[in-house]
Amino acid sequence: MGTSTKYQVIDPVNGLLDRRIFSDAGIYQEELEKVFGRAWQMIGHESLIPNPNDFFLTYMGEDPVILTRDAKGEVHAFLNMCRHRGNRIVRADDGNAKNFMCSYHGWTYSNEGKLVSVPGLQEAYYGELDVDSLGLVSVAHLDIYAGIVFATWASDAPTLKAYLGDARWYLDTQFNRRDGGMQAYGPMKWTQPVNWKAPVDNSSDNYHVAITHLGSAIVQSQALGRPRTSHEGLFKSPAKHLSVNGHGLTFRMMEANEPRRGHGVTKYNLHLFQEYQQDTLPEVERRLGSFRAQHVQLGNHSLFPNGVLGFRLALPQGPLQTEFWHFSLVDKEAPEEIKRALRTGSQGNNGAAGMFEQDDIDNWRQVSESGRSPVARRYPQDLSMGVGHASIHPDYPGMVSERYISENNQRNYYARWQEFMNAESWADIHIDPITASFEGTAGMRG
Ligand code: FES
Ligand code: FE
Repeated sequence: MGTSTKYQVIDPVNGLLDRRIFSDAGIYQEELEKVFGRAWQMIGHESLIPNPNDFFLTYMGEDPVILTRDAKGEVHAFLNMCRHRGNRIVRADDGNAKNFMCSYHGWTYSNEGKLVSVPGLQEAYYGELDVDSLGLVSVAHLDIYAGIVFATWASDAPTLKAYLGDARWYLDTQFNRRDGGMQAYGPMKWTQPVNWKAPVDNSSDNYHVAITHLGSAIVQSQALGRPRTSHEGLFKSPAKHLSVNGHGLTFRMMEANEPRRGHGVTKYNLHLFQEYQQDTLPEVERRLGSFRAQHVQLGNHSLFPNGVLGFRLALPQGPLQTEFWHFSLVDKEAPEEIKRALRTGSQGNNGAAGMFEQDDIDNWRQVSESGRSPVARRYPQDLSMGVGHASIHPDYPGMVSERYISENNQRNYYARWQEFMNAESWADIHIDPITASFEGTAGMRG
């Protein structure tokens, strides 16, 4: 097919990575087209537009996108660009509107994307404007997984179900547990002087936790009674990494009735979380089957190309600038106390004021900038940890690492990026076959 070999940036055998992919302006421009122009991307959550005529302003790469729910309840996504001269037609972050009027000359579009009004259509355009062909530019495909809205500009893209593939087997254990679905709070937004790929690859990097986050972990353990992280604990952990279609996931195998861990759980409220877990177990077992309900907990993870630790986005704004959007997602039907603890826990760790987030950003900045110097560029990044120590596992789908601390997922992420950058179309991009058995009633839509 049309695959080129222009990009040879990652050597999967020795794990060496070309640093220029973090800082080169030409590479960045090509990413906007070849990665963000064709990948499925998370753009919102159904709970952000719960009512007819709600809208939410979002992004795909650098392109502003309006996510709408029309009067009939159907969800759409359009480029936020007036077809006349290119103004953004929506300026508010969110709201409720049947129509959107461009503030330059007043062309007006419905929330289904149709051009419904043009000032001077007869007087100035002589009735000759082809109004039907000048609706808003729609994404090629939009689909929803467990309330999370995804879209792609590529008409030849595979289905979202195929794109997520076996990753969904693990994602379900966090995002698809309850009949009532999840509620998104946010986003909290801030800019970081980092390349957008650095936080994504870091999502599977548990090697750094005991060093980078030492101070924050000590504070949390003293104030909240959360367990301390140590190299010893991380190296011995039976948790694992796995990779599917460039998505990098980590997960923990749990004993039956073992408490699920997460940001927001402290020694003071652990009993509430355990009660909630027990109370909801029959429902979760019905939805996910008892093996996943009881024994699998999704850990840190990324979704290709720019999903970071769940429904949180690294939006590119140049090779060395990223706007970060932090949402927290909680079970809609959880008790208020649990929801509050999860929200504050999520923000305390990973929001703009999150202690762990702040620890991380300086690392990502330095990693991103290391590609700027011609001298530094002669020395590739070393991602060799665990080469040759990942394989197909009999119980857990995906390419699963033998050990928890591994750079298996990072190598696969950059190999996926390279595959996108060299491909002429989706025909040149492979999709791992779905092999997982999805027990239970939970499906793509919830
Ligand atoms: Fe939108 Fe002219 S640019 S109406
Ligand atoms: Fe971190």
